[in-house]
Amino acid sequence: MLWYSAVVTISRRELLRRAGLLGVSAAIGCSKDDDDGAADDGTEGDGTEGDTSSSSTGGDDLPQYEYDGELGPEGIFSHSVASGDPLIDAVILWTRVTVEQTAAVEAFYEVALDPEFTQRVAADYVTAEPERDFTIKLDAVELAPGTTYYYRFFALGRTSPTGRTRTAASGALDRLRLAVMSCSSLAHGYFHAYRRVAERTDLDLVVHLGDYIYEYGSGEYGDIREYEPAHEILTLADYRARYSQYRRDPDLQECHRQHPMVAVWDDHEVADDAWAGGAENHTEASEGAFADRKAAARQAYVEWLPIREGAEGIVYRSFAFGDLVALIMLDTRNAGRDQQVPSAFDTEALEDPARQLLGAAQEAWLAEQLDHDAAWTLIGQQVMVAQLRLGENPLNLDQWDGYPAARQRLFDLLREHTPTDAVVLTGDIHSSWAFELADDPFGPDYDPSTGAGAVAVEFVAPSVTSPGFPADTADQFMTTHPHLKWGNLVDHGYVVLDVTQDRLQASWWLVDDVTSPEGGAERFAAAWSVVRGTVALLSDAEPAPPPAESPAPAP
Ligand SMILES: [Fe+2]
Repeated sequence: MLWYSAVVTISRRELLRRAGLLGVSAAIGCSKDDDDGAADDGTEGDGTEGDTSSSSTGGDDLPQYEYDGELGPEGIFSHSVASGDPLIDAVILWTRVTVEQTAAVEAFYEVALDPEFTQRVAADYVTAEPERDFTIKLDAVELAPGTTYYYRFFALGRTSPTGRTRTAASGALDRLRLAVMSCSSLAHGYFHAYRRVAERTDLDLVVHLGDYIYEYGSGEYGDIREYEPAHEILTLADYRARYSQYRRDPDLQECHRQHPMVAVWDDHEVADDAWAGGAENHTEASEGAFADRKAAARQAYVEWLPIREGAEGIVYRSFAFGDLVALIMLDTRNAGRDQQVPSAFDTEALEDPARQLLGAAQEAWLAEQLDHDAAWTLIGQQVMVAQLRLGENPLNLDQWDGYPAARQRLFDLLREHTPTDAVVLTGDIHSSWAFELADDPFGPDYDPSTGAGAVAVEFVAPSVTSPGFPADTADQFMTTHPHLKWGNLVDHGYVVLDVTQDRLQASWWLVDDVTSPEGGAERFAAAWSVVRGTVALLSDAEPAPPPAESPAPAP
């Protein structure tokens, strides 16, 4: 059973069929040019007063929201809305109904081409179930490719904020722009980076590489904001409460409301330094079976994140954006990772060719995904792929450095399937880096002045808030790592990827002072490009300019 099957959705085609209208209405999907002639009666939900009907007055064949019961509480949509996992004809829509009652709540959603909802393309009743923590997640289907939509929900006479989302393009595509983010430790401050990304009108998508939440109790890792619950989260109720707190954060909410997100988890969505069968921050004797904790963490994740999941427990998945980008999202944490080796001096264990980071099933799946016709392969994943040393030894055995045979298999796959056009996107390490990836970047087969011998590039996104390295460490790494082209190991922010047929650029945007709610001014820090057909990183003085026109933000 699919995890979202509790939410009953009926396709537009099915609605038309039931209404006996199929064959009368020619257009099932809609394009930007469609105008179904729906009247605008001027009613607009603001979530504060009872709106007992949706605003389109029947110019389309879709159902209208009707409710004549007692008006629900004002904060019923206090977690706002979210969307994600865009396909060419579908996108996940999300909200949560916050009520005192324990019985299921009837709700309603609608999707339109305009923020006034005069051109609706989908609408139906859905149910918020207590078994899903009253979250509502549905796949809005039969949408048009490469199209911006606006959506909202209704429940108990109240109207949610309006969200904006966008489907993936199909066919020839000139350009894609996306923000790449990771690591928002609420206890370390304020989510200015989410707000700055929300304000951007030039993005098609936000990619989140994990550590969306942190599992710690208040004061255990950061002390600027207090956690709910105050203790380290262990149970399903704990994980749900933590997501609920995060999703009441106005900056994170706004990021979700304005952009579709493709998210994948890292360790802290379960526990620090997780692997498939345990975590550094989990003690079975005092905290119970890890499998139970992982199941609770996973359930809360799929309830609260707008992701589409293929099968039980699997979050690795891929997306296509026309002939331009294949976006492959990997799970290096919870799917098939063997336990970290405790010491770099245990070379026999470290170099064991059987050691897995992805697991055999995901590795085989990755090989299939790499067979595509798109210009670029973007691989969104969690931990740093590039070799990072302190002296002669790997600095961090929790990243691909701790799984060298698995990394070599990854490089071999890339070399075989996408020899010059793969870009790895990484989070986890709370700092910004631009690398060329080579089998041995310290050896003679790689030329850092030309990129000869490199197999791909890696862009590491900074954290939203989580702390990075001491201020003076970037220079040390720069002088000892020939494949490292740039780094900022201190500041917080996000990366914008600007992808065209000929060239791909990563630009780093860093924000001021995450320790105060008043901070958050952003600055352009650096931009690095790769030209299609090469694997050499080129420094750019300026970020690529945004597109001339952008769809209107959600009001
Ligand atoms: Fe993190």
